[in-house]
Amino acid sequence: MALQNKKIVLGITGGIAAYKCPEIVRRLKDLGFDIRVVMTNGAKEFITPLTLQAVSGNPVSDSLLDPAAEASMGHIELAKWADLIVIAPATCNTIAAINAGLANDLLTTICLATAAPIAIAPAMNQQMYKAAATQENLKNLTQRSVAIWGPGSGEQACGDVGKGRLLDPAEIVELVQQHFMPEPAQSLLNLNILITAGPTREAIDPVRYISNHSSGKMGFSIAQAAKQLGAKVTLISGPVSLSTPQDVERINVTSASEMHDNALKQAPSHDIFIACAAVADYRPSNVSDQKIKKNDDDMTVTMIKNPDILADISALTEQRPFCVGFAAETQDVEVYARGKLARKKLDLIAANNVSVAGQGFNSDDNALTLYWKDGQHELPLANKQELAKQLVVEIIKHYNQAQ
Ligand code: C5P
Repeated sequence: MALQNKKIVLGITGGIAAYKCPEIVRRLKDLGFDIRVVMTNGAKEFITPLTLQAVSGNPVSDSLLDPAAEASMGHIELAKWADLIVIAPATCNTIAAINAGLANDLLTTICLATAAPIAIAPAMNQQMYKAAATQENLKNLTQRSVAIWGPGSGEQACGDVGKGRLLDPAEIVELVQQHFMPEPAQSLLNLNILITAGPTREAIDPVRYISNHSSGKMGFSIAQAAKQLGAKVTLISGPVSLSTPQDVERINVTSASEMHDNALKQAPSHDIFIACAAVADYRPSNVSDQKIKKNDDDMTVTMIKNPDILADISALTEQRPFCVGFAAETQDVEVYARGKLARKKLDLIAANNVSVAGQGFNSDDNALTLYWKDGQHELPLANKQELAKQLVVEIIKHYNQAQ
């Protein structure tokens, strides 16, 4: 995703939540965005232009009538420069001014003078947010295709509790990224996606089990990305300590057999199946009812093969979803990944080299190579959330081609 060099004007208005802005700027910069900050006079009562200049690496604009500022980058230039204008926090005063089409300070003037999309993240007292005038202004702006991000609910700086909090910096950054998602992502609307994630546990006795290394982070990130891009997502998860992404339907399972039964039941009603789980290949053939005592010096556990969930779903002759597998390898990644692609008759496989430090199992980062019958595509090292988005976009491209 080419976020590099996308240009954002961040408009900051006079609310206490302005203290969150340096964090928003820093995270956007890390992702490769170019940021120009525009501050209202109110904003400067809460946070200094110097702070924003330091984090954005660009001069801060705050005046319509300052000849020096206009000479460096004037209001029309800024309005033309932006690929997106984000106003965060947006006070009810600025929201009202933009709705009325006022041009009484630099920020409102830029909003009138731009052809770029505008997103507003309101932040105000809950009663001021509820006020009929504010609600009407927001409704009008929505009808004019201005995006309204948030607000969130909770305790407010004034002590009130309710709706009106500025979204967290991470949420705002997420929405900015989504705004720049490439076209194929749009086609996720109305798609049903089934994902398996995490490890499975195969019981030896009531207290012991055999399992695989897997935090579930990759599968959960994929579920979150697919949901955020508009898909309906069912996530079948083995035991992990992760919270369910918002609006994702989660089915908890423990063993491979349980995961298999649930996945086979769900598959026919889904368009795409992404097998991200680290399923145990074998399970003890006998599970002892009672805890096995350590009387002997050695112990043998006889294992039998678990069903292959992905291969079984891929072999469905009716209502077969588009099947995407994962291959976690320590060597000869391409050979093994292509082997699995062919053997399990998959549409696509995402391979990673788990022997490389700092990526894969239990890590926050990962890098993947996608293989299909006659091609491949690299998704370089990124955090799992970012990577998941890129992966989902690629999967959708291939899914659309296959239709
Ligand atoms: O055969 P292998 O485990 O290496 O294949 C990995 C892929 O197959 C992953 O997508 C994994 O989720 C899936 N798989 C499965 N059921 C199994 C074993 C693996 O769905 N029993």
